Order: sequence, then structure tokens, then C-alpha cells
Amino acid sequence: MHEFKYKNTQLYCENVLVGKLAKTFGTPLYVYSYHTLIGHYLKLKAAFSQINPLICYSVKANSNLSILKALITNGAGLDIVSGGELFRALKVGCPAKRIVYASVGKTEAEISTAIAKGILFFNVESLPELRSIDRIAGSLGKITRVAIRINPDVEVKTHKFITTGKITNKFGIDLNNAYKILLLRAKFKNVKICGLHIHIGSQITESAPFVSGIKKVSAFIKKLELKGIRLEYLNIGGGLGIIYDNETPQTAQVYADEIIPLLKSTGLKIIMEPGRFIAGNAGILITKVLYIKNTPKKKFIIVDAGMNDLIRPALYGAYHNILPLRKISKSEKADVVGPICESGDFLAKERMVANVKEGDYLAVMSTGAYGFSMSSNYNSRLRAAEVMVSEDKVQVIRKRETYADLIRNEFAK
Ligand code: LLP
Repeated sequence: MHEFKYKNTQLYCENVLVGKLAKTFGTPLYVYSYHTLIGHYLKLKAAFSQINPLICYSVKANSNLSILKALITNGAGLDIVSGGELFRALKVGCPAKRIVYASVGKTEAEISTAIAKGILFFNVESLPELRSIDRIAGSLGKITRVAIRINPDVEVKTHKFITTGKITNKFGIDLNNAYKILLLRAKFKNVKICGLHIHIGSQITESAPFVSGIKKVSAFIKKLELKGIRLEYLNIGGGLGIIYDNETPQTAQVYADEIIPLLKSTGLKIIMEPGRFIAGNAGILITKVLYIKNTPKKKFIIVDAGMNDLIRPALYGAYHNILPLRKISKSEKADVVGPICESGDFLAKERMVANVKEGDYLAVMSTGAYGFSMSSNYNSRLRAAEVMVSEDKVQVIRKRETYADLIRNEFAK
């Protein structure tokens, strides 16, 4: 479900002609649909209404302040992984009690700020980190809450860089060690272990691994109860897959129907951390065709967006559909490539692409999650502008960078 559709031959975002946005704001340009973004959040909320979880949107997927604000205004909490994300969350007025904080490498400064601000809890990823949080909370004279991130050791069919729930991944704590920590919990005087957390990976298109992970954790919760250890929260992470190409991911409702009975039986309050499911299909990247280059072997469509704007194809071999802003009946096999000096700088390879000509625009679809948030200034390229569309209203939510921005923190000594 998304609000990017052709009307006659032209691509619209909600009620706005995307071609007009490209001309007004220039390219590369990220365009977001407010109603697609909020629609996905509400869809998940409705599917889980029986158990009313706290939905903590995963800030890393798209951390623009306006995106965060739109979601928290609609009742979402936030899942953060750094001091920078905490700063953003507080900047847009997210109540601290709706913030959960994961990451295998939280620094002392990050931990103490999060404690001082009173976040709901940390998702703790190792014993040394737990000791650190305990010590820092003690020095601040506070008792802080944590959930233990369990590594449930489940197999997930997704790109190997985005699977996180196998025992060979750096994330979480295995069940045996988690059990030992929980038995010794009285040793950590300034920490209250209030829950468990799992997050097994991203772009997961079937419910089976989620079910398997939650079953393992539910059995663990029962085992703890037998020892008199009663928790309050179960954080089931994010990871729900979306449609980029011809995937058939589970719908929010199917996912909910499968796991709600398991979640209910734990008796715990549920937290979820979706990122891609909410933001992925709510954004597109608009790019302009600079040159068409025909070589003896290939046709290259050279565009003004590169791997610095969207790194997913280069990093994960990810597929993003590429559509012309004005429908063209003929298409041809081509590579769509950016201007960066690397052969890995491509948006599509050997793909049937509309027969565009120089000066035409293309939309790289489903780039609302892990698009701008993973962009960089490589090749001293300015990061793109971002606009949000709601019905016929358009707002710039990030200005295009300038050359002054590029060297802001540098010195020529
Ligand atoms: N919770 C935790 C602890 C996470 O590490 C992540 C994502 C999420 C929630 C949100 O996952 P989602 O619902 O978006 O799948 N850059 C990669 C994705 C990396 C995901 C990292 N962790 C990509 O572009 O595919």
C-alpha cells in the first residue's frame, strides 16, 4: 500500500505531481508520503489492537525530525541506537518513557545521558555492558531499567548483512548466559532487569522465524517464572519485510494473528520496533538522467543520484524498482548508474528500464527506509533534499546541503 501512483501518464505522490517537485527542488530528491508513513503505522497498531503494544519506530530507518514527529504525534515511541538518535528523539518531544535503546557498543557518555533523561529501558547486549550501566547508574544515584537482548539462534532468510539472530552474530546474549545473568540479578544494585528483547534481522518476509524466536523466548520466560523471576516487558524487535520487487511478505494482520496468542501467553507488556515496515514504501528517490551511454556491450543510464544517496544496491545487492516520472511505453535493458568513481555505484543492473532520454527523471521506489539515513558525502557530494507530501501540501523537511555544509567542521592547516 502506498500513495505513489500514476494518474494518466504522470507519477503523483498523494495529490502532487512528482515531476513538479523535481523541477522545484532539484535532484537528487527524497519524496515522502505522509499518509503512506502514518498508514503503515496505523495498520500495525490496528492488527495488534488486542494487546495494545508500544510501537517504537526504529529511528535508524529514517531519522528525519519530521518523520519522527509525525509518528510520535500519532502515539508511537522510538527505538534508538546512539546518542545522536536520543538527541533527535528528545528534540521532537518524544516522551522519554517511550524510548528504548539498543546497540552493542553504547558509550559511557551515551549511557549516562539516557539514564539522566529517564528512557524506558536499555536493551542490553552483553555482560560487560550490563556492568557498565550498573556502575554509571550508581554514580548518578539512579536505578535504571534494562531488558536483556536474547540471541535466540534462529535462521532467517534475508541478506547475510542484516540477519542478527544467529549465535554467530554480534548481537544479544545466548539463553544460557542470559539465565545466569538473571539468577545473579541482585548483584546489579542500580539496575532493574524488567524485560527481554529479541530482534532477529531485517526484511523478513515470512512469519516462521519470528514465531520460532518468540517461542524460544516464551519458554525462557516460563523457566524464569519457575525461579520466581517475573518480568514486565517483552520487546519483539522489528524486521517485518516489505515489497520491493515480487516478494510476498506476511501482512501485518497475518503476522499479528500468528504471534498474538504466543505473546498473550507471556502475560507481559509488548514492545515492537518496526522501521522498514513503516517508512520503506513511504519514500522515493527522484533522480535526473544526465547521459545515455551506449557501449559495445551495454547501455548505461547515468543519473545524478549515486551510491552516496542510496547505498542499498551496492551494499546488499538490493532491488529497487525504477520508474519514469512520465510513463513511457518502450523499455530496454540497461544499467542505471551514478556519477561516483566506483563500479559499485549502481542503482540497477541489467534491468528493463523505460526508454528515457537525457533530462528525464526517474523514481527509485521504496527508498523511505535506509535510504537517506545511510547516505554520505562520499566524492564530496552534497546530501539530497527531502520533502514531505500530505495530500496537496508540500514541505521541505531537509534542505539540500551546500558546499559550506560540506567543509563546516574542517580546517586547512
Ligand atoms: N530493532 C533493532 C534492534 C534493529 O537493529 C533494527 C534494525 C530494527 C529494530 C528495525 O528493523 P526493521 O523493522 O527496519 O527491519 N540497512 C539495512 C537494514 C539494517 C537493519 C538494522 N537493524 C537495509 O538497508 O536493509
